Amino acid sequence: MKLITIEEARDKLLNGDVVAIPTETVYGLAGWIYSEEGLKKIFSTKERPFFDPLIVHVDSIHGAKKLTSNWTAVHEALAQVCWPGPLTLIAKKNDRVSPLITSGLDSVGLRCPRHSETLKLLSTLEGGLAAPSANKFGKTSPTTSEHVADEFGDVVSILEGGPSEIGIESTVAGVKEENGEFTVEIYRPGFYTATMLEEILESQNIKAQVVYAESPVAPGQLKHHYMPKIPLILVKPGFSWKDSQETIEKELKGKFQNPVFWDQPQDATIASRELYQKLRQFDQDGFDLIITTKKPEHESEDWKGIWNRLSKAKTLEF
Ligand code: TXA
Ligand code: MG
Repeated sequence: MKLITIEEARDKLLNGDVVAIPTETVYGLAGWIYSEEGLKKIFSTKERPFFDPLIVHVDSIHGAKKLTSNWTAVHEALAQVCWPGPLTLIAKKNDRVSPLITSGLDSVGLRCPRHSETLKLLSTLEGGLAAPSANKFGKTSPTTSEHVADEFGDVVSILEGGPSEIGIESTVAGVKEENGEFTVEIYRPGFYTATMLEEILESQNIKAQVVYAESPVAPGQLKHHYMPKIPLILVKPGFSWKDSQETIEKELKGKFQNPVFWDQPQDATIASRELYQKLRQFDQDGFDLIITTKKPEHESEDWKGIWNRLSKAKTLEF
């Protein structure tokens, strides 16, 4: 594993290299937003298609405003309460933001991460850092430096920051304004739920609806994503492996000797923190199939981000 200091990370980034950075959600693969070489290297290292826009990490609201042309009262209110933290806000971009970052869109995703090392690094750089999760495209996101090293070996230098506290990617939210009325659309669920964002806005006397929606512009929200190396099956309560094995093996065109039955923890905060770590661990422990049950209590809003990831990571729902 190639660990580096903040100063070394800064030098690499300014020279067009990529560096893995810790955040409270997952580790990111960062490139400096003013280095075209660095931005291109993010895509080539991840094997990520250019049509999937990147999130820009900034050290403050002030830093975010420098990259946008319509920072609304809703952006301001949400950022004031949630930043630094796991919320990405989409806003109209200005000329400082390269089309490489936004896949040619006129908007940009911005977030101020809650991690002391990465905030220190950001404060030494003009502009900000574009960073998707530090994993090969479509695969399980990393929540420790070991995960990043497993993914990229010594090709990517890492700023060590310990295990990620939240464990799944930030909530991504866009803001729409029509006839003076605001709607906040959540394109990717995460720690911040619609109810939480609505309460924050209400407390600041801003009238806005918050809804879950498909992104109208970013085709980044693909059907399959976050996939572990071994198949993952989502099942209903009452599922029996004995009764279902034959059908499942037929569907998946394989035999399974060593399935693991993965009980989700009671608490959504812990389930989220452990999610990607577990998906990696089961494969390393020699299991050949992961089975987890979606229980009625998992329908509540705080589980939305977790089941969003699991349903994209799954091979089969049974
Ligand atoms: O927690 C996180 O957000 C992590 C850490 C590293 O900060 N980053 C992350 O980045 O998850 P990434 O690239 O894996 O996910 C970014 C997603 C894109 O797939 C896209 O769907 C959405 O954010 N996005 C980015 N820019 C957008 C835009 N202008 N409009 C709509 N969606 C956008
Ligand atoms: Mg990702």
